[in-house]
Amino acid sequence: MTQANYKHLPKDVDEIVIRPFAFDFPDDLDPVWAPGNPVRSHFFNGLSMTMPYLEPYLIRSILRAREFVTDPGLLEDMGGFNRQEANHYKCHRRYNELLKSNGYPELAELEDIMTAQYERLETRSLRTQLAYSAGFESMTNGFTHWLITKRVSLFAGSSPHVSSFWLMHMIEETEHKTVAFDTYMAYSGQYWPRAIGVLHGSGHLVGLGIRGMFRFLKKDKLLYRPMTMLKILKELSLFVVNVGPFCFRALLPGFNPRNERDPQWMKDWVKGYTTLPEDALIPLLDTSDPVMPVPFGAAKQPANAV
Ligand SMILES: [Fe+2]
Ligand SMILES: [Fe+2]
Repeated sequence: MTQANYKHLPKDVDEIVIRPFAFDFPDDLDPVWAPGNPVRSHFFNGLSMTMPYLEPYLIRSILRAREFVTDPGLLEDMGGFNRQEANHYKCHRRYNELLKSNGYPELAELEDIMTAQYERLETRSLRTQLAYSAGFESMTNGFTHWLITKRVSLFAGSSPHVSSFWLMHMIEETEHKTVAFDTYMAYSGQYWPRAIGVLHGSGHLVGLGIRGMFRFLKKDKLLYRPMTMLKILKELSLFVVNVGPFCFRALLPGFNPRNERDPQWMKDWVKGYTTLPEDALIPLLDTSDPVMPVPFGAAKQPANAV
């Protein structure tokens, strides 16, 4: 069923680089890692909880598509995508275990729900699965831009471990932003299932993240307070304003993630990483710095770069 008219186009990045997620999270890591902002902390924590279920699913959907793909460039990209996503979910799993052991063991129930939901999704057609994966990844590109370009307002004063980990994850998302889309286009290419996949993949995942956030806030006995509701509205509005335009563009017939420009900070980070000695831990962001530059000395950016 490979589409005869599929053509693998060049990407923004030369290579999908596989990097170890060398973070040593402290054992006493505070799940409210954004001081004074449990809603933001738990929105991201809720999203983190989904990753060890979502990302293995993405990998399996891409693996299932391999037998239908003949283009060597795309096959290489699919391998890089899977290896990056495998590193992501393993690191999120380590982080999530800390969240559970540092006050939120009941989040295990949500993990059981996610296991069942992704098992169900895998009984659907491969076209539906790949459309979900491509749709989710197009939303992620918006999430990446939001986190990178608004890093100071989102992460100022926050845990350097958590901030650095999320941003590194998002940088790699940018590197492989074309792969799930290309795989869908090579396998099917049909517009409507892809558009539905944008809503399905984004809506399902964000819905699970919000569900997780509610559980964290309930445990903190904060959920039913009017002020908490207002803060939830504010955080979700920020999400919609920053990520929504990317989802909207992904819904358009001529969409291609190649047309979304990568932030300069991401390029500086990728370049800076190459200066890191092998086996070194990832240097942490200085979340007290007013511009929060990339954490590699040689690649520090001018203050006005975004
Ligand atoms: Fe990822
Ligand atoms: Fe991804």
